[in-house]
Amino acid sequence: MDLTKVVLHPEYQIAPVDPRIFGGFLEHIGRAVYEGVYDPQSKHADKHGFRKDVLSSLKDLAFTAMRYPGGNFASGYHWLDGVGPRSSRPVLTELASLSIEPNQFGTDEFIQLALKMNWTPMITANLGTGTPEEARNWVEYCNGPVGTSFSNLRAKNGSVDPYGVKLWGLGNEMDGPWQQGHVPADQYAIRAQQAAKLMKDIDPSIELVVCGSAEIGLPTYMEWDRIVLEYVGDYADYVSLHRYVGNLTGDTADYLAVTNSIDQQIEVMDGLCRYVQAKLHSRKRYYLAFDEWNVWYRTQNAESVNGHGKFAQHLVEEEYNLEDALVVAGFLNSFIRHADVVKIANLAQIANVIAPILTRGDQILLQSIYYPLALYTHRREGVALQAIVRGPGYESKNFGFVNTIDTSAILGNGLLHTFLINRSTTQPAAVEVETTGIGLKSVLSAEVVTGPSATACNTFAQPDTIHNQKLGKIKLTDHKATISLPPLCVAAISFCIDDNFQFYRPSPS
Ligand code: AHR
Repeated sequence: MDLTKVVLHPEYQIAPVDPRIFGGFLEHIGRAVYEGVYDPQSKHADKHGFRKDVLSSLKDLAFTAMRYPGGNFASGYHWLDGVGPRSSRPVLTELASLSIEPNQFGTDEFIQLALKMNWTPMITANLGTGTPEEARNWVEYCNGPVGTSFSNLRAKNGSVDPYGVKLWGLGNEMDGPWQQGHVPADQYAIRAQQAAKLMKDIDPSIELVVCGSAEIGLPTYMEWDRIVLEYVGDYADYVSLHRYVGNLTGDTADYLAVTNSIDQQIEVMDGLCRYVQAKLHSRKRYYLAFDEWNVWYRTQNAESVNGHGKFAQHLVEEEYNLEDALVVAGFLNSFIRHADVVKIANLAQIANVIAPILTRGDQILLQSIYYPLALYTHRREGVALQAIVRGPGYESKNFGFVNTIDTSAILGNGLLHTFLINRSTTQPAAVEVETTGIGLKSVLSAEVVTGPSATACNTFAQPDTIHNQKLGKIKLTDHKATISLPPLCVAAISFCIDDNFQFYRPSPS
């Protein structure tokens, strides 16, 4: 068994981990909202119609920033349709997924849910078929003190207190020809800048995410981002990145190496942000909002997003396996490794639609990708450390060389968390974590997610094939931990350490 050595040092700090990188995404599509988080007909519904079983499983993942209401849905959504007495809200044809939208869940229900779940609301304004003024009014509805027509409307609908929504998206994937209201970059940039000005005039404390490239394969990739950032300038706080990946060739080793290309996507977009900042002679640093990411390929076709004019259809209900769970962990490792530039990231999505949780009638299933998310949930506070990894690796077909062990590490108060993915499909791995300058006192907890094969899944008939298990014994000396990993796994280990490191470096500007 080849040894991998992971060297960590408390002075090799990347940046504090922004909690918002553990965000989620709730869109009006398929059964994400209706029959997902909101299902008044279910025996699990609480008095507000929220599904208690779904919410309890989501609560264990402790999502932070929750993006809503879309997605492609956002580009045709008029928020006024979703507020006020439910009986007078319009039932509409929704064009992003060719479905019926009854508007029984809207802004007020979302905020109520966000408060209940301790989510930070992140609202995507409609810059497709909507106007900058409509976006401005939505900010006033959410954040304005009572006394103006939209804030008074909020009070009439039940909340005198402003909702204080601090994070707003300036549209969704406006570079995609599939998007309602899609326009070339220069036209979107004008729309986004106009909306940004009005929105920030209403509430200067909000932060804005401009639409970056929806896919790295689009012909406008990077050029779109450059044009938009240069025009929107200092009104932008973040640029969005989206990424969906999959094992299209049935080659697990190659698929698990996709992390290289996620790292690269982040690094080139940060490079572009630095370029625009320099070109504009601006002091303003743009950060990255990776506000849609996941595995999605089995159901990525026109039929899977076609509701055929019906309500709450089974759209985009991807069934996940073990290798997908490891790729999800790979995304998180990449975000942690880039804690200096990735400040927001949203798993797309949270229930039924490309999600860790599936419902079927009153049943619920936790899919394989639920479990790596759970591994990181209680281990995410602190500063990301730069890990030096020495060990075996392989040349992948599409993504270049990767270490067999993918790593990230977070140094918190009195704790050190390490995350290790063993990409080998057949071989266990020995990993030595060497922590010069950090005394290891004990192992607080050590868990692993693995399974019988790369394609093993949880199903309603066999729901427990993939789950978190205790990781076997870890040998510990003062500055070294020796860990044995099974093939195809992600492990998370938290050590109690002998110091509180308080010298976290702020993110660079
Ligand atoms: O998450 C599903 C869809 O994927 C979203 O609506 C869209 O933004 C993306 O293309």
